[in-house]
Amino acid sequence: MQNLILSPSLLAADFSDLKNEVKKVEDCHIPWLHLDVMDGHFVPNITFGPPLVASLRKVSNLFFDVHLMIDHPKFYAAAFAKSGADLICFHAEASDDIDETIEEIKNCGCQVGIAIRPGTDETVLLPYLEKLDLVLVMTVEPGFGGQSFRSECMEKLARLRQICDEKGLTLRLEVDGGINDKTGKIARENGADTLVAGTYLFGSADMEKAAAALY
Ligand code: DX5
Ligand code: ZN
Repeated sequence: MQNLILSPSLLAADFSDLKNEVKKVEDCHIPWLHLDVMDGHFVPNITFGPPLVASLRKVSNLFFDVHLMIDHPKFYAAAFAKSGADLICFHAEASDDIDETIEEIKNCGCQVGIAIRPGTDETVLLPYLEKLDLVLVMTVEPGFGGQSFRSECMEKLARLRQICDEKGLTLRLEVDGGINDKTGKIARENGADTLVAGTYLFGSADMEKAAAALY
């Protein structure tokens, strides 16, 4: 298993002060930023698109971990790559062909990940693991921050960890939804090496201290 990477979810940041919120992450020496893109169709919520990613790209060197909760991810990959995404993660349940979407994201020069909802079996990912840089196991139903961690998702995470280790794959296993100092430990024990945390990190009075409790 690789070293732990934290990916604070911008969704829980103060949107009136994004430049400083991003700086806060950098000041804590956290290397990634998780950007939740929602289209009001794949999930019942709308957030932001490529223009916001491009604006933040101008003020930050963080690794942009873009989580697309949208239909037609293949169509939008180029726009997010151009705006500064480093990794683009799309949902296995989204409308586009999975192989074609992986190909398109790679052709755009980005790393590629696939996310699965809590109700989706990890077996849908097995044909693609060799081609991926990351798998995202959602521990809440995608669409909103601030929900409670669903521990029933840990079994499939552990199975994915075992499969990756057996195959000698170095892709990252990321967990997203309801992560805090307690649930983060549970996710780690079950094989996660990348933790998304929104409310827990951006909502804390001291992000550095909150982040330290996750290591
Ligand atoms: C939910 C998003 C998450 C969310 C996590 O659809 O994918 O990234 O922002 O927020 P917390 O950590 O508050 O559950
Ligand atoms: Zn997310």
